[in-house]
Amino acid sequence: MKEELLAIQTKFAAEIDAAGGLASLEDIRVAAFGKKGEMTAILRGMGALPAEERPVIGQMANEVRAGLEEKLAEKKLMLSKAAMDEEMARQGLDVTLPGVKRAMGHRHPVAIVTEELCKIFMGMGYEIAEGPDVETDYHNFEALNIYSGHPARDEQDTFYVEGGRVLRTHTSPVQIRYMENNRPPIAIVAPGKVFRADELDATHSPVFHQLEGLLVDKGIHMGHLKGALTVFAKALFGEDVKTRFRPHHFAFTEPSAEVDFSCFSCGGKGCRICKGEGWIEMAGCGMVHPKVLARCGIDPEVYSGFAFGMGIDRIAMQRYGIPHLRLLFENDMKFLQQF
Ligand code: DAH
Repeated sequence: MKEELLAIQTKFAAEIDAAGGLASLEDIRVAAFGKKGEMTAILRGMGALPAEERPVIGQMANEVRAGLEEKLAEKKLMLSKAAMDEEMARQGLDVTLPGVKRAMGHRHPVAIVTEELCKIFMGMGYEIAEGPDVETDYHNFEALNIYSGHPARDEQDTFYVEGGRVLRTHTSPVQIRYMENNRPPIAIVAPGKVFRADELDATHSPVFHQLEGLLVDKGIHMGHLKGALTVFAKALFGEDVKTRFRPHHFAFTEPSAEVDFSCFSCGGKGCRICKGEGWIEMAGCGMVHPKVLARCGIDPEVYSGFAFGMGIDRIAMQRYGIPHLRLLFENDMKFLQQF
């Protein structure tokens, strides 16, 4: 009996060690401890032993049983873990990994500032108008009194495209398109991209942004223009900002002016940003030329209007302390994610 027990122990121990999967391990368990198992048979045969042998053999049988059961349990744990690892590897899924973060979009600083400027004018009753980036020569130049031979038409400044069209060099053609299709009273601002054959540097780019303004009604004069731009300046940079109008020349306005705002950095004392001037040039403006009104079918004897055009990019750079214009057009995610 003793030898038989030892033989069974050695045999099953070796089989358990060799078991390659949970199914074969279960077969071994049944062969040992199942209803017809070899250990079961031995344990059942205890009763038939002579009384004096029973305690010794009985204890030995219990030890063998406990040893094999423990070995089975250990092996089962090991095989289950291996099976789980294999399943995980097959699915390529590790539920303990942190989730994938979705990248959030950010608004471009130029878009933020454009909206801010438009909101100020909308608060004064202006509507938003738009025009195409690819313009006819007529809308971009001719209708604005910029005739052939005018320096603004220089090929060095203008991108000409097929069919005699141009990439608009300013947002002023939106004035023309709007007046062709609407009658006074007119009060619009038109933000958008404009294009000029400039080399990229800290303050120039072949593409940049302008905001155009146009107001036409009966009895409009220079005082209205000054009032509108002064209210705008204060809304944008604060109550203390002053405006200054200097005579200038534009083909499509008469009289024309350039408007300066007192420096938003030093308040007018003079600093590096305003180059010691105390003033920063903000926009071109003037009274809409009578010929421009007439060309759009608006009687200049009855109506008059003012217009202005300003750069948006420089305001965005000032607002956010952006040192180089290039940063507004490179679309570097590391830069844009700050806004
Ligand atoms: N279009 C001009 C430019 O890009 C700016 C400008 C000047 C617009 C005077 C106007 C204006 O509407 O009245 O240089």
